[in-house]
Amino acid sequence: MHPSAFERLINETILKFNIAATEADKAFYERLQLHISLLSDLYNTLYGGHPEAALFFNQLIETIVETHSNRSVILKNIDDAKLQKDYWFLSNHIAGMSLYVDRFCGNLQNLPSKLPYLKNLGINFLHLMPLFKSPATESDGGYAVSNFREVEEKFGTLKDLQQLITHLQQEGFYLMIDIVLNHTSHHHEWAQKAKAGEKHYQDYYYMFQDRNLPDAFESTMPEIFPEAAPGNFTWNEECQQWVMTVFHNYQWDLNYTNPQVFIEMLNNIFFYANLGIDVLRIDAPAFIWKQLGTTCQNLPKAHTLLRLIKQCVAVATPGMALLGEAIVAPTEIIKYFGTDNYTAKECDVAYNATQMALQWDALATTDTRVMLAAQEILLQKPYGTTWINYTRCHDDIGLGYDDWMINKAGFNAYEHRKFLKEYYSGSSYNSPARGALFAVNPKTQDARISGTLASLCGLEKAINDNDAAAVTIAVSKITMMQAQSFFIGGISMLFYGDEAGYTNDYSYLNEEGKSYDNRWMHRPLVNWQKNETVNNTDTVEGRIYANTQRLLSIRKQLPAIGDYKNIQWLTPHNIHVAGFVRSYGNQYLYCLFNYNNQTSFITWYVFKETGKQPVTLYDYWTEEEYAVGRDDEYFVLPPYSFCVMEAR
Ligand code: GLC
Repeated sequence: MHPSAFERLINETILKFNIAATEADKAFYERLQLHISLLSDLYNTLYGGHPEAALFFNQLIETIVETHSNRSVILKNIDDAKLQKDYWFLSNHIAGMSLYVDRFCGNLQNLPSKLPYLKNLGINFLHLMPLFKSPATESDGGYAVSNFREVEEKFGTLKDLQQLITHLQQEGFYLMIDIVLNHTSHHHEWAQKAKAGEKHYQDYYYMFQDRNLPDAFESTMPEIFPEAAPGNFTWNEECQQWVMTVFHNYQWDLNYTNPQVFIEMLNNIFFYANLGIDVLRIDAPAFIWKQLGTTCQNLPKAHTLLRLIKQCVAVATPGMALLGEAIVAPTEIIKYFGTDNYTAKECDVAYNATQMALQWDALATTDTRVMLAAQEILLQKPYGTTWINYTRCHDDIGLGYDDWMINKAGFNAYEHRKFLKEYYSGSSYNSPARGALFAVNPKTQDARISGTLASLCGLEKAINDNDAAAVTIAVSKITMMQAQSFFIGGISMLFYGDEAGYTNDYSYLNEEGKSYDNRWMHRPLVNWQKNETVNNTDTVEGRIYANTQRLLSIRKQLPAIGDYKNIQWLTPHNIHVAGFVRSYGNQYLYCLFNYNNQTSFITWYVFKETGKQPVTLYDYWTEEEYAVGRDDEYFVLPPYSFCVMEAR
């Protein structure tokens, strides 16, 4: 498109929506002018060959302008304030919790009364698990959406959500919710119309009359839920077609080669943005583009689609950051931050699934070398983007890091993963962990791991055995696991229940729509009587809560924990100890974690390895000050302990 044609399109659209000449409008107008050629390039990479490409591009611009014109003054001011900061989400002041509203506190109206509990812990960011309409027994925890704009009755109404958002803003909380971009429920209006035979809506999905193309796709596509939902296609009796269903058979994959689907979903994204969402969690972005002969994961056009979304958001609702929930191989995850000309121009945030899984790896093996090997990939994250760092979430733990990382540490990848699976499912000799294997694939032997933080750290077994010493070890493990994920920087994200040591809940086995999915064992139903005991540090709940609270409060005091590409990993010459240095301004912090069940010794040289020559070190965790010893003298870390030491 010629620049003058862009200019004309912008001006005509702006006139249509009556955009006035306020400061916010001028800034918007400038953003649109600045980004329109990039928007057009990205759009045409995806849809340039479509017969109605130009029509849908005009609709895209209209959607952007309409969204801006509907955006409230409050949100426009919040956008401005965020743009003034150097990437607001890099700060060490953000600590989140991910929770199911119904399982945490019943419904949206009850949530404000629980904010003091969360604030007291140090939380100022909430990830509310899917809230929108989803059929009760075919829901996948809300990730099968049948209406993107209607709140599921059990949570309340859209009005309740809007009121909650206003309340959260007043209380200084950030909010994240999901957009389930890859698929809809088969009960969604589009799917219903497709089933009824409407060609227009059949084109919203991947539908085939016979097995030819499905078989061709299957030959290169892995299975996501091989036990609960084998294969990637489901036969629909009503319309007599095979439908692509990569996840469960009730989750129909949307067809993004159709620009109309893109525009519809962009409108849903903007609907959430204008509710006042701070971070939008894009569910399963690795899957949004499909191509015959590939795995249909991480395809270049999936990235183009995300970049296009990012550009649209940057113009219309710039205060909303995008999180790409790509739980894939480390070298693939990193690409969701953008590459080449689009470096730091795709997703602002991604889950550090590799680091999370490698902490579990180190905890089981007592060996941190695989974690260290992975850092050469993880450190490629560009400035201006950040991780969600976490130990547990609502999903399983995947062991999807690369074989070469395991080999580099001297292990056989197959045997290594076998050991981890046996260790965490509690089936290997002497393992204190109580988890379960999830999505076991008999063909590949792949499996992931379910279980709560506490149960995987041995608390469930220790309590059942009435073994006080084992309880103490489990609490140390939980605290150290959280400590490493908090001090590594980025957005710390706790999973509800972990702050109070919830062990696995096996009641899902008796519930329709849940019993086939053991991820429910780590999605607890909160018992507030139990949670009240967090104020008593004689209880296990109280010990875990107090430790978590202290960790978060230390984190907030230390600007060097902000994610400014200011992390350097150490090589402590002790395979059991992982460590890194964080620096910012004059602050220089050493964070070391002992994954051993024995005392670990490291020489004081470790603290000089990076060239710094500290004289004294202050540990924020033990509140002790140390005189730095000679290079051949030792600093001692008790089993499952850690330190956060500032050079003085
Ligand atoms: C994401 C969600 C997971 C869900 C899947 C399909 O990975 O985290 O819970 O099953 O997407 O929507």
